[in-house]
Amino acid sequence: MNRCWRLDTPAQTLVLASWNDRLPEIVYWSAPLPEDEDLQALAESTRMAPTGGMLDIVADLSVAPEQAGGFLGHPAIGRNGLPMQSYFLLETAPFVENGLHLIYHDAPSQTQYHLHARPDPKTDVIELWSSLHNLGESPCEVDFMAAPVLPAPQNSSEILEFSGRWCGEFQTSRVPWAVGARMRESWEGRTSHTDFPGIMIPTTASSETSGEAFGLHLGWSGGHRMIAEELSDGRRQIQFAALQDAAIPVTKDRPYHTPKLYVSRSERGMNGVSQAFHSHVRQNILRYADADRPRPVHYNCWEAVYFDHKPDVLMDLADRAADLGVERFVLDDGWFGQRDDDTTSLGDWSVDRRKWPDGLGALVEKVKARGMTFGLWVEPEMVNEESDLYRAHPDWMLGTGRYKGRNQQVLSLRRPDVQDFLFIQIDQLLTEYDIDYLKWDHNRALPSVRPDQTLYLYRLLDRIRSAHPNVEIETCASGGGRVDFGILEHTQRFWASDSNDAYERWKIQRGASYFFPPEITGSHIGPRLCHTSGRQFSMDFKATVAGSRAMGLEMDLRELTETEAAQVKQAIATFKARRGLLHNGDLHRLDSADHNVLAEMHTNPDRSEFVLFAGQMQPSAQQFARPLRLSGLDPETKYNIRLENVDAVVEVMNRGPKNPLIAGETVTLSGTALMHRGVQLPNSFPNTIWTVTGERQ
Ligand code: DGJ
Repeated sequence: MNRCWRLDTPAQTLVLASWNDRLPEIVYWSAPLPEDEDLQALAESTRMAPTGGMLDIVADLSVAPEQAGGFLGHPAIGRNGLPMQSYFLLETAPFVENGLHLIYHDAPSQTQYHLHARPDPKTDVIELWSSLHNLGESPCEVDFMAAPVLPAPQNSSEILEFSGRWCGEFQTSRVPWAVGARMRESWEGRTSHTDFPGIMIPTTASSETSGEAFGLHLGWSGGHRMIAEELSDGRRQIQFAALQDAAIPVTKDRPYHTPKLYVSRSERGMNGVSQAFHSHVRQNILRYADADRPRPVHYNCWEAVYFDHKPDVLMDLADRAADLGVERFVLDDGWFGQRDDDTTSLGDWSVDRRKWPDGLGALVEKVKARGMTFGLWVEPEMVNEESDLYRAHPDWMLGTGRYKGRNQQVLSLRRPDVQDFLFIQIDQLLTEYDIDYLKWDHNRALPSVRPDQTLYLYRLLDRIRSAHPNVEIETCASGGGRVDFGILEHTQRFWASDSNDAYERWKIQRGASYFFPPEITGSHIGPRLCHTSGRQFSMDFKATVAGSRAMGLEMDLRELTETEAAQVKQAIATFKARRGLLHNGDLHRLDSADHNVLAEMHTNPDRSEFVLFAGQMQPSAQQFARPLRLSGLDPETKYNIRLENVDAVVEVMNRGPKNPLIAGETVTLSGTALMHRGVQLPNSFPNTIWTVTGERQ
């Protein structure tokens, strides 16, 4: 006797089967099943008989596999110092509109396991999470607990993982499936540059643009663990959990909740999965005061002046930024306490009167008078020992304080007095000055990995946002160290990296695009000589990289020559004309036939328009550019296409007569031709991005 449930979105069905009321197994996660599929028959058809050298039962690979059920892989729950030894049985399945809630009960331990699932047919993403409840008086402590465990597809040979470092976030690597457990953990107490909590699983016949692919992401900004395990019997499980460095008591009034796991499946390659995630972020995760407002072009002064704030210089930079078309001026680190370098003043959130004798008011007014809005940098969770705050409250720190990171300690957000202090400091700033954006930084790993630090951060962010609903917040952690769907429920965009090196940034943006849409991915044109790599690139290359996401500038604008300033102004104007398409459309990473070319395109919802960015990163092995096959177009539609940066065509690489596209003419081709023969781009120098636009004839 078993019970089955199904979760459907247009591109997937997930079927759960509970054998004799035990915790359910996900027996199917793939293409949408017919409405009248016999789920019992399907579930029965997946059963395997034990073979030699095994226990006499085949243990369930349930949503929370347990040793008590004979499961010999990594258990999903650790409790009271042991892998969970409970035996949950179905108690009830309360009705939930558009979702599933299953309650399982383990009588001896008087605990309940709850499974929650919410499929969204509009976005094609399923949200899954679970909770453990203690109904009795016996102590119950959770050491770890995974969100509902999914079986990984058998027709995949590798996992696409995301790793990185400061100035090199979202690097991708393919890890083959093999017997044993692959574990990725972040013990940083934040999402981390190194171990992003998300994976893609392409199947053997899939690519970016076609075939069956799966994606999973844990929306959590604290420590986390991912386990991808293949058992000796060939079955595969994927677990995602929040990490903690101490057991957490579960009492009658304090259940343990896992973070949400977001999953999607597509037959349109990994792009289909990414587009589902983008749409979910747009429709269900982000909250804007004014969702229709275009994402503004930023100017950030960090790499222009660092801590050296001089009002006349910043006023001048504001004027120059406005002349170029900037819409939001951001005053970065250095404006508060006695912050002349990074050894001091975090915690003292009042304006440095040595640098700003009259406060920030005049700068804010100047910025507004020039038609821009004003944004401010803060790093509220942190404190320098060289600060009034630390001197007054050395007991407010998280952890032992043995190690500092960037000379700073961390405040313990679980303390109500710390919460109130931070709220009051930020509230005062937002009340005194007309600020519409905060860059919320976080520049060190935490000394202790406690989920409540993360939950209290979310609460603080929400408190600030309900008091100041028009203020947008950008999540930043030395660049992209805290970017995930969890923090995005409380913020509106992210700083992807401290690397303004356009070459690096193009790769970082591609990696981030597996999960995050372009309009929330901050990207700046940096100084002529890149401060984090010492490299120099053409303005066209830099502006195209920044102009493909949420565009900004971050440099001493006084270094721009007249020609460069004109180029930047033009690039900003182009971005403004294009951002409607970029920020509401579908992003497609292309399968380039040349691994030195990293290309993506963006289509509008009715596929009548597109923009293609094809980045020649390194010189190619062959002489001719290989044709680049496009994706996501309507096969029948004829598109007028144009190479927008014909000026970047280099004669020495393209001698003599050129094809009409490269000669700057409009060429009309069908979606079929563009997707199957592809676009013939110029032969290029490295570090060139070709921009091709297309619109329905
Ligand atoms: C780290 C951030 O990632 C940078 O963009 C900048 O804001 C600095 N902190 C300021 O200290």
